[in-house]
Amino acid sequence: MAHEMILVETRGRVGLITLNRPKALNALCDQLMEELGQALRAFDADPAIGCIVLTGSEKAFAAGADIKEMKDRTYPAVYFDDFIGKRWETVLTVQKPVIAAVAGFALGGGCELAMMCDMIIAAENAKFGQPEINLGIMPGAGGTQRLTRAVGKSKAMDMILTGRMMDAAEAERSNLACRVVPVADLVTEAVKMGEKIASLSGPSVAMAKEAVNAAYEMTLKEGVRFERRLFLSLFSTEDQKEGMAAFAEKRPAQFRHR
Ligand code: HXC
Repeated sequence: MAHEMILVETRGRVGLITLNRPKALNALCDQLMEELGQALRAFDADPAIGCIVLTGSEKAFAAGADIKEMKDRTYPAVYFDDFIGKRWETVLTVQKPVIAAVAGFALGGGCELAMMCDMIIAAENAKFGQPEINLGIMPGAGGTQRLTRAVGKSKAMDMILTGRMMDAAEAERSNLACRVVPVADLVTEAVKMGEKIASLSGPSVAMAKEAVNAAYEMTLKEGVRFERRLFLSLFSTEDQKEGMAAFAEKRPAQFRHR
């Protein structure tokens, strides 16, 4: 499928997706979300790819769902279209790690999309916010849940009820972002991180991601049991044999990703 609103490229074993709708600050319209979903599924299915980086422009990761496209929609239309479930949650189904590399605005659905990724690297100019309240609505793609889990109730309430934006330093301090880097280095740093991940054993990476994400959905007891099952299952992989043999033989591991 030819893409009009995203750019898709590979850098070694990293799949790089760039949101590219500059005139609307990467507002996430239906077409863009369809294209993004298609690109994510293609990279997830490609054995030559081990990690995915999702980024936007220097000015905006994404300024939210497309307000102009949404504004005249009726309740029955949005209910039956199920646009959030249908187009927005593909990233949650990807087995390989997805890194959000955020510069500029990540607002509303843009912030929610970044939070659906496995981690967020922020550029120094990043601005995170859930300004939906200013539009007479509220976050609808997981913002009330994921922001609260990331930064805690008080800060989440502050941002969601007032629409206040959080800068990169605050985002890192509040555990929304894992790292902050200069704007000019954002994509390079994210790809470097992706390359490191993609050089490792695919099953161990995918299962570790699955287990960390399970921490949001399970009790501690269930989560620890889930982790143990995955951990033990990795002893069935060639990569576990190789990784441990390489350590014992004092040589670098040659993972076959299976
Ligand atoms: C549609 C948008 C847009 C959006 C910006 N644009 N954000 N179009 N939907 N979310 C368009 C503007 O209309 C404008 O188009 C162009 O992009 C440039 O934006 P400006 O406002 O001129 O830029 P600037 O003055 O730099 O202000 C940047 C901004 C502001 C602070 C990010 O654009 C803004 O507040 N945007 C809306 C942010 C927001 O409310 N997001 C939440 C959306 S609701 P023209 O044609 O005039 O040049 C949401 C719900 C998700 O996300 C729920 C799950 C689906």
